[in-house]
Amino acid sequence: MNLYNAINSRISIRKYEDLAFDEDTISLIKEKLSTAKPLYDGIRIRLELLEASTLGLGFLYGLAKIVSPYCIVAVTENKKGYLENIGFIQEQVVLELTDMGIGTCWLGTYNKEKIQESLNLSDSEIITNVIAVGYPYKQKNFRNGTFRNLLGSGRKKDIEMAYCNKYGNSAAEYLEKQAIMKKVLHMCILAPSGGNRQPVRVVFTEDSVSFFVENKKNGSVTNPWAELDAGIFISHFYLCCLNENINASFYQDDSSIEKYTVPAEFSYIISMKLSAH
Ligand SMILES: Cc1cc2nc3c(=O)[nH]c(=O)nc-3n(C[C@H](O)[C@H](O)[C@H](O)COP(=O)(O)O)c2cc1C
Repeated sequence: MNLYNAINSRISIRKYEDLAFDEDTISLIKEKLSTAKPLYDGIRIRLELLEASTLGLGFLYGLAKIVSPYCIVAVTENKKGYLENIGFIQEQVVLELTDMGIGTCWLGTYNKEKIQESLNLSDSEIITNVIAVGYPYKQKNFRNGTFRNLLGSGRKKDIEMAYCNKYGNSAAEYLEKQAIMKKVLHMCILAPSGGNRQPVRVVFTEDSVSFFVENKKNGSVTNPWAELDAGIFISHFYLCCLNENINASFYQDDSSIEKYTVPAEFSYIISMKLSAH
């Protein structure tokens, strides 16, 4: 896969050609679904590729239905970290599909009953989201153009997302010295997020990066997608590090919120030790 091309060209596709995939394409997609790397071991997941035209799929935040020939349904065990884990896994597939010329749109809104009916869910399994999948509608069209912009597709600046050593300390100087990290961060800023809220913040140190999401106010959850968004963002970060020959190993440091003086509106997700190969 040409990773940077895939990240730069991926947009949410909300209008599709009415075209079925051939058998080879279906097999290749199923292979990608079964080989994507998890963020955490020990959380059972399954990603199902379904024909979607009759599923009453997704809604544009309640405005209109998205009709796509297929969809991926994400099913996971409800264990600590399941949202960022499933976001991390699915975004690897989204980028692979983009590289194959296939369009996608992450969907938090969908017809839950219909989708549940077509899957045999056990008591411990939950559906987190679906992803519309199909060949993008070729001609210029409102949904994939103007409408996307109206929904909000602009991106924050790197210095609004990243800090150095402490929350609030500008990472501008660090990023000027670390050209590769600047590039990697830019690739993460292009990651999709629910409602384009872009809730992830990172704190760099000389040899690590820690990821946080803004998801609560006065102790109540304000953004139910935030951890999914974090998994998506972290998958971009991880894949770009691999692409740049940076050794990126994940670890948990539960003192990160205090250590980096991160405000109470944020939750800590995970950290990565960074070193050149
Ligand atoms: C977890 C998640 C849920 C989303 N849910 C919806 C949705 O229900 N309807 C929709 O039209 N787009 C949905 N999106 C797509 C976002 O609106 C889109 O990623 C964001 O506006 C940025 O635009 P882009 O993906 O075209 O770059 C979702 C994205 C994510 C990551």
